[in-house]
Amino acid sequence: METNEYMQRLYLEAIKAMKNAIAPYSRFRVGTALLTTEHKIYTGCNIENPSLMLSECAEKVAILKAVSDGVKDIRAIMIVSDMEGYCYPCGSCRQIIYEFATDAGIFVTGKKGIRKYLIEELLPHAFKS
Ligand code: THU
Repeated sequence: METNEYMQRLYLEAIKAMKNAIAPYSRFRVGTALLTTEHKIYTGCNIENPSLMLSECAEKVAILKAVSDGVKDIRAIMIVSDMEGYCYPCGSCRQIIYEFATDAGIFVTGKKGIRKYLIEELLPHAFKS
């Protein structure tokens, strides 16, 4: 598959995942699809809990699914949401991306198209062990 086809596929998979979001509290649905270097796709959605601090972000769900499956290298992460503007990963997810998807292209989507970032732009001076 060509890069563009992968991007399209990631976008569609992220939208599909977003539909599984459990977001009765924020009413804000987020979906993520990531691509590994072995061309596997993992997806995630936000999953809220009545004990709000236990809620999980879509990005974290997708990344930890991949990591727990033995994935060592993530190439691209696509983030979609049902809000008008761009949905950028929260601070906590940026740290997770830094740790497990250091070199990935991070694609955030909005009504005006897709923007690409690297984690060093979104999380400068990251904490590392
Ligand atoms: N959320 C994500 O899933 N990813 C983000 O990058 C930002 C926020 C979720 C968490 C919560 O369920 C809802 O969006 C509102 O914050």
